Amino acid sequence: MTTSITPLIAGNWKMNGLMASLSEVQKLAEMLTRGTAPRCTVAICPPATLLARISEMAASSGIVTGGQDCHPAQSGAHTGDISATMLADAGAQFVIVGHSERRAGHGESDDLVRTKAQAAFAAGLTPIICVGETEAERRDGQAEAVVGRQVATSVPEEAQAIDVVIAYEPVWAIGTGLTPTTDDIRQVHDMIRAQLIERFGDSGQTIRLLYGGSMKPANARDILMVENVNGGLVGGASLLANDFYAIISAV
Ligand code: 13P
Repeated sequence: MTTSITPLIAGNWKMNGLMASLSEVQKLAEMLTRGTAPRCTVAICPPATLLARISEMAASSGIVTGGQDCHPAQSGAHTGDISATMLADAGAQFVIVGHSERRAGHGESDDLVRTKAQAAFAAGLTPIICVGETEAERRDGQAEAVVGRQVATSVPEEAQAIDVVIAYEPVWAIGTGLTPTTDDIRQVHDMIRAQLIERFGDSGQTIRLLYGGSMKPANARDILMVENVNGGLVGGASLLANDFYAIISAV
């Protein structure tokens, strides 16, 4: 962990969560207000149907919210899509863009992801830009080359001056219970950091780099200790207040 950066622990609920799940947010909010103040920003990225409700109910506990995707345009004839402006209007501060499930399931390219990040900036949101290699790419020794290419193209030039978060999520670690070794995580995060400094100078030092992929209470501490890991993007373990709180406490 790099101490001068405020870490971010963000929960990505994916396509999970009904009105009944609001009780987990309530529980987490109570745990956060009762315990010692968390040493990180805590965000929940629920499905869009719950975003406004959670933004409202969580505000007093310091929990912030984010969307899981946005359209590159701010409004218009795009049936079924949600714009960054709408997410901001519903109380979000963040938006995840380029998650591997959207890259794979919706054919999203690095160029599209970059325009979504720019739409986020335009709406006053901080994009959480996801990158990560597949199992086959890692097996072929291509992990760093793939991630380097994704960072180069998905992260817009504006990141030099506006807050942006990058999440390294190896595709093969998502929802599988598998995680890279801390040495593997360190190697990729160091490579991303070096690339950002080369491109953006000093501001490349302060961009938050999250790790995501089967982060759990049992492994969070070791992962968060790694230099250049500035927090986590948590899927399954963010759905239950107890587990998510344990990861937040690991910071
Ligand atoms: P899991 O924590 O469930 O592996 O999901 C990680 C993820 O995809 C977060 O965006």
